[in-house]
Amino acid sequence: MTQTQWYKDGVFYQIWPRSFKDGNSDGMGDLWGVIDKLDYIQSLNVDGIWFSPLYCSPGVDCGYDISDYMKIAPEFGGMEAFRRLLTEAHRRGLKVIMDLVVNHTSDEHEWFRKSRQRIDPYTDYYIWRPKKLNGRLPNNWSSMFEGGSAWQWDEVRKEYYLHLFAIKQPDLNMDNPLVREEVKKILKFWLDYGVDGFREDVITFISKEEGLPNDIPISGFSGILKYNHGPHIHEYLQEFRQDVLQHYDCMTLAEAPLVTPRRALTYISELDPKHHDIDMMIQFQCMCADCLFSDYIPMKFSLRRLKRAFRRWQTKLYGKGWNMLYLENHDHPRVISRYGSEKFRTASGKALAVSYLFQQGTPFIYQGQEIGMTNWRPPRIDMYEDVQTLNQHLKDPEKKRLRLYHRASRDSARTPMQWTDGENAGFSEHKPWFYVNENYREINVKAEEKDPDSLLNFYRKAVALRKSLRVVRDGKYKEYGWYSEKVYVYERFLSDAAKARNTASRENGDPEGQPSRILVICSFSENPMRFSMHRGISLQKAELLLGSYPEKETSKAKPDGSIILKPYEARVYRIRQSGQESQAFN
Ligand code: GLC
Repeated sequence: MTQTQWYKDGVFYQIWPRSFKDGNSDGMGDLWGVIDKLDYIQSLNVDGIWFSPLYCSPGVDCGYDISDYMKIAPEFGGMEAFRRLLTEAHRRGLKVIMDLVVNHTSDEHEWFRKSRQRIDPYTDYYIWRPKKLNGRLPNNWSSMFEGGSAWQWDEVRKEYYLHLFAIKQPDLNMDNPLVREEVKKILKFWLDYGVDGFREDVITFISKEEGLPNDIPISGFSGILKYNHGPHIHEYLQEFRQDVLQHYDCMTLAEAPLVTPRRALTYISELDPKHHDIDMMIQFQCMCADCLFSDYIPMKFSLRRLKRAFRRWQTKLYGKGWNMLYLENHDHPRVISRYGSEKFRTASGKALAVSYLFQQGTPFIYQGQEIGMTNWRPPRIDMYEDVQTLNQHLKDPEKKRLRLYHRASRDSARTPMQWTDGENAGFSEHKPWFYVNENYREINVKAEEKDPDSLLNFYRKAVALRKSLRVVRDGKYKEYGWYSEKVYVYERFLSDAAKARNTASRENGDPEGQPSRILVICSFSENPMRFSMHRGISLQKAELLLGSYPEKETSKAKPDGSIILKPYEARVYRIRQSGQESQAFN
């Protein structure tokens, strides 16, 4: 089967099912609700949906603890609703990708229940270790969700099992060929069912170093150097690819904590099939402009850090591998509350949208991001649901960490989608499973639909523009003024070969042809600022393709080439003059 790389032209919308839309009035989001909102999703001009897990699960980690991989959970509508959803989505030209969570299962999965009783063939499906004579734990690895050891004693089997996440999420033993066969069965099952690909959850963790040696102690993360990008990772991913994935025109997207562009190219190389295990990687560097590796170690936001992350991925992957672009998902607080400004909510939301939507790669938009939802800040810790937050709290209940959780908890971005200013924000007619952010009266889809200058309508325009410009898909990236903490400026330009194709398109009836150069300017300042671009780029001659303020409020370029940018103003220009690439910025 030829793989057409359709994802290169696409923009995706991420749905975190329990908080998107309740269709059967039980207070929990479900697929009936999604079907109801497919027109809305389509109106965003996106091309596909990534669903966070929909499978049967006890829900300890909101679906990332799966107890049956081949069934859609009844609370989401079961297989019947999923079949409908798939048909309806495909009818609208929307692709559907699923979450594949195979580093671990739920401890309620049948495999685990049998494994703890040593029932074959499941005995070695998980990572079991006997008690050591000296009474020590098998090694010093820590659990990312428990704040303690990654080993749990099991009274039934009288052995420890490994869980890198919660106690109820035992790690699978991927070194066992039978487990890999199970993964392939899951992939095949859903691809045959009609899904278009997978987002693979912490997939770089699936191959643990032989002998499970101790790691250097790093609070909360000991072991990560021994199981991230482990010894057989490429072999296993290639096995999945060759035995299943390559026989379908599908896409794969791998979540990869700590990955660098250089390492990513060992997984996603487009130049060497031996290093093309998957199509794209979810890197975390763009999520670390205001924290040190984890949201729980916050720092002051630095635009320079954000730009450095963008620049690295844009330049190092160019022509060699394909980027995945995002600023929000279900694992991070809302981006306006982090990198933008709640005071300038709409303006900063637009600047953030422009900052990443015109880069090379496949962009993802997380539910609620398009209307500028902001962090949820409960008054009490016991209102949290997220296993990661709650366990941190249980470990140290005396510590007053509410402010940290407001900033770092994943629940900040998991409140129900705000559809209207009515009861329960229009999410459900029933009391929702989780708290609704109180600002729903002001921030909701209904209000933004009506306002031509809303963030929602801006997203629609920006996504449509992105998709109409070949330079955004194929062009090179060049950044200006990397040192500025106030403004982010980058150019995308087509190489000569691509320009020649462009001329052909002009001859084929498109009089102006496609732009071969665009310039993106995003202010990250709460104050108006004078901005000049010079040496080779004249903003006076440039054509404004997209501006984040209404036209009458958008300043024209002065004869000296400068413009006044309003707070968090963003613009996309078509650069007209030919000649050398411009070099400088002021
Ligand atoms: C990934 C998921 C996250 C989940 C974790 C364990 O990081 O995105 O939500 O809790 O893996 O499965």
